Amino acid sequence: MNEATAMRSRLCGTLRAEDAGTEVTLCGWVAHRREHGEHLAFVDLRDHSGLVQCVVDGSVDARGEWVVQVRGTVRRRPTGTENAELGTGEVEVADCVVEVLARAEPPPFPVDDRAETDEGVRLRHRYVDIRRPRMQANLRLRARVVEAMRAAMAGQGFCEVETPLLWTPTPEGAREFAVPSRLQPGSFYVLPQSPQIAKQLLMVAGMDRYFQVARCMRDEDLRADRQFEFTQLDVEMSFVGPEDVLQAVTEAVVAGTEAAVGEPPGEVARLTWQQSIERYGTDKPDLRFAMELVDLTPVLAGTEVRALQAPSVRAVVHAGGGSLGRGRLDALVERAKALGAAGLAWFKVTDGGGLDSPLGRLLGEETQRALVETSKASPGDLLLAVAGDWRHACGVLGQLRLDLGRPPLGEGDRRFCWVTEFPLFEGLDDEGRPVAAHHPFTMPHPEDLDLLETDPLAVRSQAYDLVLNGWELGSGSIRIHREDVQRRVFDALRISPEEADARFGFLLGAFRYGAPPHGGFAVGIDRFVALLAGEENIREVIAFPKTQSGSDPMTGAPKPLGEAELRVLGLRAGPGAR
Ligand code: AMO
Repeated sequence: MNEATAMRSRLCGTLRAEDAGTEVTLCGWVAHRREHGEHLAFVDLRDHSGLVQCVVDGSVDARGEWVVQVRGTVRRRPTGTENAELGTGEVEVADCVVEVLARAEPPPFPVDDRAETDEGVRLRHRYVDIRRPRMQANLRLRARVVEAMRAAMAGQGFCEVETPLLWTPTPEGAREFAVPSRLQPGSFYVLPQSPQIAKQLLMVAGMDRYFQVARCMRDEDLRADRQFEFTQLDVEMSFVGPEDVLQAVTEAVVAGTEAAVGEPPGEVARLTWQQSIERYGTDKPDLRFAMELVDLTPVLAGTEVRALQAPSVRAVVHAGGGSLGRGRLDALVERAKALGAAGLAWFKVTDGGGLDSPLGRLLGEETQRALVETSKASPGDLLLAVAGDWRHACGVLGQLRLDLGRPPLGEGDRRFCWVTEFPLFEGLDDEGRPVAAHHPFTMPHPEDLDLLETDPLAVRSQAYDLVLNGWELGSGSIRIHREDVQRRVFDALRISPEEADARFGFLLGAFRYGAPPHGGFAVGIDRFVALLAGEENIREVIAFPKTQSGSDPMTGAPKPLGEAELRVLGLRAGPGAR
């Protein structure tokens, strides 16, 4: 650590027993001050490296959070007064002279990880909040992770290129932020929701392997894993297949994990989208716990029970759930209905291996036995089943699986998983048009090209996601570089050639000048770092995030502009104007 500067010789948190006898000059904030009469005072001095106890033979005119410079001599603490909880707990700095560098008002909340403080207050005084060890650790962890990922990309021959922030709309689905142009009143730039098109242009431009630690902006509803502004490790490569991209990104993510926690993650799992839905009911499987979905369709194929007659019946086993009372069971049924299921069938597995359920006696003994056998449920377990179409039944149970079995986000191993072969379209919109699952430049799976016109929803794509403990960490795909394939996908999306030219003509035009086959990926750095830090909200790993309502309590942004400022931008005042 680069400790010494013109004003200090050491950092507070680095002093150890072997430093005893050394004269030091320290700078930092007064964490605590305790006076013992007029002749003895203790000051706990804090800088980013930690805290050390300073002893002053006299009184000290410095209060909590004042900024001071302290000169003194390191010595071992008297036996019995060591503090094992402190890195510097074996020593103290004695004979101290304290010089005040800046006075401070009492902090709006304790600079301490133990105190629970309202987040609005923390964000209003973020500069105080970031003094806390937890925030210091999170931001420094973030820096280490980004540094390691950058090095991993550079080591694989990737070249970092900056792309514009004043950009133009791109078809990736999120609402975008617009910036009015002063020189062309009435016209707007758009802040990039990702460098997607720019990086594809860099491939046409022959850059071969591009990456960027890229700021992205999306005007979306904010949640624990979403901010307006976030950062991607953005990647694009030429002359590759999916495996090349997966390998390059895995290397960066492994390096980031290692930099954060000191060891590489275990093996990165691989599932196709189909397998992921089938086994976990979601394309973002949390692999820290099993509780896989089971297929009861064959067992119930000829059932007389109306509620279980459906193209697909799927179930999960809630281990030990047989003891749940009626109230909890009713709540589970309500939850399933709220998730869109027609109902939820529950069966308690009895000691004799039979089923106790309102539907139990309608099923007959043989079917009951087959259900227990197929689901591998044990006495005392609860079997929860949903009948419906495959995707829907799996989806509802996937959520119930999380509700009932998921460990807290920060707990357990880190279980990475690649999910590959996403469908090209995720469904139909209200007007019956297919909706692109990733973006319209995603290459269809070569085996499914012929289905584009006949059965578009069955077309798999060459798109893949990286998932960590149930969070989507990133996504990417092999792109379409052939105009004929692109036209067919646009046709399927019902985007006319005129519309395509108007919206992304500059990209399609570039492709006519020699586009290499290419593909890429983007890792959400905020999510990655939050999971590495054991945080449940990405705000905890962002220096100055926005609140849920999209504002910044510290700066007051967003704020209305005055009429004169608006005029310059060619805008008229709206309801919020000053
Ligand atoms: P996508 O839209 O899936 O793909 O974004 C990639 C990753 O970025 C992160 N992310 C976010 N993080 C925080 N707040 C947000 N609002 C937010 N939105 C997205 C997620 C997500 O997985 N251009 C493509 C990538 C490609 O095809 O190469 C893209 O942006 O972790």
